[in-house]
Amino acid sequence: MFIRGRRLRQNQNIRNLVEETSISVNDLIMPIFLIEGKNKSENIDSMPEIYRKTLDKQLEDIKSAAKLGINAIIIFPAIKEKLKDPFGKEALNKKGLVPKAIRAIKKVFPKMLIITDVALDPYNSDGHDGILKDGEILNDKTVEILCRQACIHAEFGADIVAPSDMMDGRVVKIREALDRKGFHNTAIMSYAAKFASSLYGPFREALNSEPKSGDKKSYQINPKNYREAIKEILLDEAEGADLLIVKPASFYLDIIRTSSEASVLPIVAYQVSGEYSMIKAAAKNGYIDNDSVMKESLESMKRAGASIIITYFALEMAKLIKK
Ligand code: PBG
Repeated sequence: MFIRGRRLRQNQNIRNLVEETSISVNDLIMPIFLIEGKNKSENIDSMPEIYRKTLDKQLEDIKSAAKLGINAIIIFPAIKEKLKDPFGKEALNKKGLVPKAIRAIKKVFPKMLIITDVALDPYNSDGHDGILKDGEILNDKTVEILCRQACIHAEFGADIVAPSDMMDGRVVKIREALDRKGFHNTAIMSYAAKFASSLYGPFREALNSEPKSGDKKSYQINPKNYREAIKEILLDEAEGADLLIVKPASFYLDIIRTSSEASVLPIVAYQVSGEYSMIKAAAKNGYIDNDSVMKESLESMKRAGASIIITYFALEMAKLIKK
């Protein structure tokens, strides 16, 4: 039989009727880069149109985001070099940039969901997500600190903590620590399948958090491995995570697809800095169209099975949806 697939593509209405995925502003999480001080906004060379900003300036962006219907933000602090040490001590400072910001944002936008990154790399003078000793990243010592960091974020009002460190056993330990302190309602969004990708470069420039020695291959997953990523997804679900991140997103759509079938938890695709910058750079050169490629990239993540997307395009995409 001669099958005419084009029948279902012949006009916009029938195409709309058979459309399988769509993106809503409810699906988007907006990352923000925070710096200490007032009324300052700094360019990030490798991330056009994204800025490191002081809290007062970020509050303006959060207001725009809220107006467009964005429900969630994730905070990344750029910590001053002089506050960094080998133990990431500043991560546990209750007067630090993140606790202060969570409280201030909640005061102005009580309903905005605040997600915090739990890891030591912004605070650690070695630039690693954990404690480095004699060339080794100490797993259990790091997890102890991460538990305290997560509890501080919860205490100051974070709705969701997102461990991005890839240490073993941290999800169950953080869950236990949160529950012990009475933070039963603080959710854990774990970076479950996080690859040792080359696409984090612009983010590390934004936070000045490039590892000073070695690389992150002893904790992040080998980009060549599929089965190992699914193992990490299943483990974090079993350890009590509420949401699971796959990161990066575009080169890892196979992982998103299988994760969404292997787990019943919401799958979060993280379109990382390098993915954002590649699209922006090509669009700025006129090689591709910014809006349609942005949209297509995010839609492909939903098609693969993601329920939620963390993306530096969040504000732009929300504007496009509104149009
Ligand atoms: C660090 C962290 C990284 C990102 C989010 N949290 C970088 C890294 O692991 O080196 C990357 C995000 C991005 O590239 O947009 N714990």
